[in-house]
Amino acid sequence: MFSIIAAIGKNRELGKGGDLVFHIREDMKFFKNTTMGHTVVMGRRTWESLPKKLPGRKNVVVTRSGIDGADETVTDLPKYIQENKNTEEEIFVIGGAMLYDEFLPYAKNLYLTEVNASAEADVFFPSFDKNQYKKISLGNGNDEGIKYEFVKYERIEGES
Ligand SMILES: NC(=O)c1ccc[n+]([C@@H]2O[C@H](COP(=O)([O-])OP(=O)(O)OC[C@H]3O[C@@H](n4cnc5c(N)ncnc54)[C@H](OP(=O)(O)O)[C@@H]3O)[C@@H](O)[C@H]2O)c1
Repeated sequence: MFSIIAAIGKNRELGKGGDLVFHIREDMKFFKNTTMGHTVVMGRRTWESLPKKLPGRKNVVVTRSGIDGADETVTDLPKYIQENKNTEEEIFVIGGAMLYDEFLPYAKNLYLTEVNASAEADVFFPSFDKNQYKKISLGNGNDEGIKYEFVKYERIEGES
């Protein structure tokens, strides 16, 4: 099963110039705790934005050009999705925008850190129909005046 995890601004801002737009300490912890021990799938650009492989997780990188250092590289994305969408294991799609777009139709859960701020961005999370999901608040916080909420959207059974 696929779960998406992302931090998004008021206008679904995700990143700018290859970096994140929001750097919230508690959000980094939330990301680490939620994904630890699991497989994480990312696009090549997100992979290149990381200082190193994410420890304690199987790092899968989607690319047509090929990279070094990942645990697995995926070139045939439709095949990867077909082979993994019905697994019991929760596989986390950790970005970026291109990958979120491609996995959204197959993701059971969306773990979104909804940041109550806007920022200049060049990549955005795809818009989605919230009526197709059950919304569960996992907590909220405030980082130097910037409010945010951890939200889990669970796809309602029967919707695709
Ligand atoms: N806010 C957040 O939570 C969050 C999370 C993650 C990332 N981000 C931000 O998002 C930005 C990066 O996102 P992005 O959309 O530019 O890039 P991305 O999704 O990370 O990576 C795109 C790359 O993935 C590969 N790819 C995508 N679809 C593919 C397919 N169907 N088959 C084969 N390869 C495929 C291609 O690599 P090749 O070019 O090698 O073929 C493509 O260039 C950065 O600014 C990053 O900081 C934000």
